[in-house]
Amino acid sequence: MKNLLCLLALGITLSLQAQTPKGESINLNQKWRFIQGDNIAYAKPGFDDAGWKTIQTDRTWEESGYEKYDGYAWFRIKVIIPLKLKQSAFLKDSLRIYLGKIDDFDQVFLNGSLIGINGKNVSARTVPDTMFKAGTQSYWDVERPYSISASDPRIKWDQENVIAVRVFDWNGGGGMYSGDQAITMIKVSDYLAIENNISPYKFVNDNLKKTINLRNTSASYTIEGDFSIRAINKLTGEEIYKNEILNIALKPFQKQVLDIQIKKPDQSALITYSFDFTKAGTKIYVTDETPYITTPLPSALPRINGASVTAARPGKPFLFTIPASGDRPMTFEALNLPKGLNLDPNSGIISGKVDLKGEYKVVLKAKNEKGVDSRELTISIGDRICLTPPMGWNSWNCWGLAVDEQKVIASAHTYLNKGLMNHGWTYVNIDDGWEIRGDLNPKRDPEGNILTNEKFPDMKRLGDSIHALGLKFGIYSSPGPLTCGGYTASYQHEEQDARSYASWGIDYLKYDWCSYGNIAKDATLAEYKKPYFVMRDALNKVDRDIVYSLCQYGMGDVWKWGDEVGGNLWRTTGDITDTWESLREIGFGQVKNQPYAKPGNWNDPDMLIVGWVGWGPSLHPTRLTPDEQYTHISLWCLLSAPLLIGCDLQRLDEFTLNLLTNDEVIALNQDPLGSQAKQTLVDGDIQVWVKEMADGSKAFGVFNLGGKTANFILEPEKAGLKPGGELRDLWRQKSMGKAGNLISVAIPSHGVMLYKLK
Ligand code: GLA
Repeated sequence: MKNLLCLLALGITLSLQAQTPKGESINLNQKWRFIQGDNIAYAKPGFDDAGWKTIQTDRTWEESGYEKYDGYAWFRIKVIIPLKLKQSAFLKDSLRIYLGKIDDFDQVFLNGSLIGINGKNVSARTVPDTMFKAGTQSYWDVERPYSISASDPRIKWDQENVIAVRVFDWNGGGGMYSGDQAITMIKVSDYLAIENNISPYKFVNDNLKKTINLRNTSASYTIEGDFSIRAINKLTGEEIYKNEILNIALKPFQKQVLDIQIKKPDQSALITYSFDFTKAGTKIYVTDETPYITTPLPSALPRINGASVTAARPGKPFLFTIPASGDRPMTFEALNLPKGLNLDPNSGIISGKVDLKGEYKVVLKAKNEKGVDSRELTISIGDRICLTPPMGWNSWNCWGLAVDEQKVIASAHTYLNKGLMNHGWTYVNIDDGWEIRGDLNPKRDPEGNILTNEKFPDMKRLGDSIHALGLKFGIYSSPGPLTCGGYTASYQHEEQDARSYASWGIDYLKYDWCSYGNIAKDATLAEYKKPYFVMRDALNKVDRDIVYSLCQYGMGDVWKWGDEVGGNLWRTTGDITDTWESLREIGFGQVKNQPYAKPGNWNDPDMLIVGWVGWGPSLHPTRLTPDEQYTHISLWCLLSAPLLIGCDLQRLDEFTLNLLTNDEVIALNQDPLGSQAKQTLVDGDIQVWVKEMADGSKAFGVFNLGGKTANFILEPEKAGLKPGGELRDLWRQKSMGKAGNLISVAIPSHGVMLYKLK
């Protein structure tokens, strides 16, 4: 699952650090024996693996030369576990076999006996079954901290032990890859969970509030020690809060709930939570950063937001909802609408069909008790659609394969409830997990029609209800026989599927390479393009405009030919995840594809990772810090990237809403020129990215990729900018006066200052 391009997900913000003095740990990041395929006899300690190859465990097996290998493989290592390890430990009750992260599934055997599966210990009686179940959630990003009682006879103290790991990888990178595998005795610090990412901070008047848990995960040991919380202003380093709770005693499995309240700073505060295990003489800490809101609250006056151009092909159904903020009730007008279109004055939904090609200049008006706003909208009826990057929501980064109809409907309703629609958010897209599954084989009805699974009883009804809200409806498939999640996909049924989609009212298709890897004859451009042409032809035959989103992770420099195969957008990399490493690698890596973005064709650096995400049934608040999230949204807007919210919209908090509803920031993304920002300056950890705007101005972000606050003096000319113009801080929507020959900016670590220069 893990893509080769993703760096290790080491979650800097929530890093749990414990000291392990030398000699108290056996490093397992050594050469393991390795074989592809599956044979349960490999678990036996006496099995002769002398003929196996060796492999490193700090990289995926693809990175060790087993390119594109998906399926079963085994890792084995022989290790002497000295009794001294136990004798010298403070706690002597359990041995910990830490295997880092494994992509995707694993079963771990100690001396022939199964001790754990996918990161959880199992009882000695557990029988290893077939571990891979198509359509289940991947565990690629999950840690494997296995443990076993020190008195368990399966451990051979002072003798050779054999650890065998059976792995199944279903796509992308595979294997044991995080490089931090080790054997230790369980330490007291392993038993304490400082759960500081269970809920986001809440703004209450002038304060920030949040609840954290201290949890003892041990069944027998009472944790004793002192807990402290310290907050400093991230920009200045000044201490703004300190609290100590001395002499805590947490009984086995006890949880202590703590409420934190600090005065709201203008910038992020860096909070360090430390626990001092006074008896054991060790300390651990975790950190996080507090949110701060920059987007001014929308005014009560009507204001029309979002794109100033929209498009449809002649004779195809047209749908556009006027995005306007301001007090409700509001009524709408649209002057000079082309023949065939009608406006509903209460909802602002414009719908119908236009037969004649043309660039129609329409005047939109939004009116409420407080006033009127008016703005021009170009309705382009021609061959090209998707003239500004699509803005919407997609189910993958939150629900993964656990998506269902209720979740999609609930998301669509939050567009209205939380006012997202007023800022241009339009698409409601279902990713993988809606199709029927057939035990590793595609399954269809007797006529070959695609079937939905029980979670999506009626796609047409769902499509109709999304359209009735003035929103658009998206879906997902693969050109191969199966999707990445193992569900039925479109191979050899492309036209039939396109017809099904059209009959459900689909407006957007994400078409994901996945199992087409087994169909393609070779890794040539012709083979990369082929399946995308086939679906393009199929989409051309239906009576709807369907935005065509190619997903094949950038193979063959897709940005060079995505337009040729009729794509509107194309993923440029592997999958994103909610860590700074992933965001940095993907976001700041969008240099080469810059010239290829234009109205109707967008480079797609993957979906947004703000809010509550999880890729499965259980979600967590994003592991990105608030500054990293400002960087994320600023960069995606500068890059003219598709904006697909990846979080549970029902749990949108105030901070995330602030990130997603800043109209001046969104305006960069929706600018009709459609130019992607260029990286114009790299100076150590500082990067400047500049985007040309249709009105002749330039938008730019000064990013700090380093771990400390940067006080940077920008010489505009060195970054391709002209001094002298009016400078505007876009997040704060504040004019900064004339830009001089030197612009001085203070940027928090991993943060950004985003400007427009007129
Ligand atoms: C691939 C894609 C993801 C998502 C999953 C669904 O990994 O890159 O965006 O669509 O497949 O299985």
